[in-house]
Amino acid sequence: MNDIINFGSINVDHVYSVNSLVQEGETITAIERNLYYGGKGLNQSIAAARAGGRVHHAGLIGGNGEGLAEYLASAGVDTSLINRTAVEQGHAIIQVDRKGKNSIIVYPGSNHQIGREYINHVLSRFPSGGFLILQNEISNVSYIISKAQELGFHVVFNASPIDSSLPEIPIGKLTWLMINQTEGQALSGKYTPDGIMAFLHEKHPHTGIVLTLGEDGVLCLQGDTLLSFGVYKTEVVDTTAAGDTFTGYFVSSLANGDSLETAVRLASAASAMAISSPGASASIPYMRDVLSMLASNNVPYVEKRLSAGPF
Ligand code: RIB
Repeated sequence: MNDIINFGSINVDHVYSVNSLVQEGETITAIERNLYYGGKGLNQSIAAARAGGRVHHAGLIGGNGEGLAEYLASAGVDTSLINRTAVEQGHAIIQVDRKGKNSIIVYPGSNHQIGREYINHVLSRFPSGGFLILQNEISNVSYIISKAQELGFHVVFNASPIDSSLPEIPIGKLTWLMINQTEGQALSGKYTPDGIMAFLHEKHPHTGIVLTLGEDGVLCLQGDTLLSFGVYKTEVVDTTAAGDTFTGYFVSSLANGDSLETAVRLASAASAMAISSPGASASIPYMRDVLSMLASNNVPYVEKRLSAGPF
């Protein structure tokens, strides 16, 4: 099994349950508020660990975030590389409506203090060949991607959230790009799933692409092979961290040497389970539960060769 290093954000999530998401110019009253540990990085580390991966989290704990490292460690994640900063811990303000849909504001805080010296130190601790996960919530993302690729890591980048730095990301250096439809649109200027895949594949033929489409399933493209999966149907309570759960399970499965089909199947089932309970990291299932769901529930998939025709 390969090591998984996650250079990832760590946040405290302030989650407000609301009847419907606040609109421009509107003031609304929340039904309740809960605090959870989150951040796309932390969630993805926990998902990868719950999937059975050997996960090392690198990132910064801010002034008021000590419990976060303990939380990661209690999930089986190696936290020995995490550093401290006096800057305030990153946090997120999350609204979740009655249908489980959300909207999120992230305040980067400590997550934007990650500097090159620390990055070089972390990367020097691992042999080449492992997997490195990143999201777009920390500083120096492009530097980490370039350096890690040079050192022989398989770099997996989840292009979330979208911001002005996205066009600068060296996508061609990634082993895997993980996106949803909105992120795909931002990166390609195309609106349909096929259009997004075709555009990104033509520009970056050596980068695998996973495009998650919510209720419409998942597309996964690597080289000449395109896999298209349906979804596992579950009750929607809170969609927060569904994408993080997908990424964590997907990478853990690949690091374990599984086939692409198995990796997507496990990731899809785990993220479907995550949306049926509240919170971010709190909703991420364990592998034993994912396997028992898969034993009684399987979605078909279609495999296609790109060389056989256009998208
Ligand atoms: O993907 C969900 C996560 O996005 C939340 O945990 C929040 O912290 C933001 O990073």
